[in-house]
Amino acid sequence: MKIIRTKDYEEMSRKAANLISAQILLKPDCVLGLATGSTPIGIYDQLVEWYKKGDLDFSTVKTVNLDEYKGLTRDNEQSYYYFMHHHLFDRVNIDEENTHVPNGKVENGDEECLRYEALIESMGGVDLQLLGLGRNGHIGFNEPAADFPKITHCVDLTESTIEANKRFFASADEVPRQAYTMGIGTIMKADKILVVANGEDKADAVAAMVQGKINPEVPASILQLHNNVILVADEAALSKLK
Ligand code: F6R
Repeated sequence: MKIIRTKDYEEMSRKAANLISAQILLKPDCVLGLATGSTPIGIYDQLVEWYKKGDLDFSTVKTVNLDEYKGLTRDNEQSYYYFMHHHLFDRVNIDEENTHVPNGKVENGDEECLRYEALIESMGGVDLQLLGLGRNGHIGFNEPAADFPKITHCVDLTESTIEANKRFFASADEVPRQAYTMGIGTIMKADKILVVANGEDKADAVAAMVQGKINPEVPASILQLHNNVILVADEAALSKLK
């Protein structure tokens, strides 16, 4: 795993945006796997800035998002569909038809998961997958578990994730209890993976991901087996690496 150390969140965002920008320049019709959460917001802001300057063109870029809460409508401000439109899609010249987020309103989980997995396959797979990292080592909504889930599936969120995400909702009761997420196998099929992490509260998860035993209790540890992973993280997030 290649590690790029940055002094702070701003530098992390710029460096990660640089890598995404390079991917778009090299392959204008690339498939980007995207993430939500607080970590990538600075990256999306940076990409929008370069787009506005005329340095980036999203007209042929395709995207697939990692995950979506089950049960939220697309116009719900906490849905990941809404997040992506708000932070990126509505601010650049991407074609809405080329953007994909699992549909949280589909009740039949199996149907939606198979559709999403087939969709990624039909797009030729992901060229560059962006990942944030949960404090418990989750990636997407792949929570610590007894084994690594392979394909897109419906998950029950753990208490720690509900707790971490409640800051976006009026109360913990309003956080959905389930979500659709790409599986670990889906993520591992991406050509390149870009993980971003900042802040001290990610330091344990970063150390476990990079240097811990490969173990489904730390889902991100599987990334040690992928041959093209770049971690861009600030000093605080890297502070527990030995
Ligand atoms: C979001 C996602 C999650 C987040 C993770 C970190 O699409 O898949 O795995 O990347 O929970 O979230 P933040 O960036 O808010 O710390």
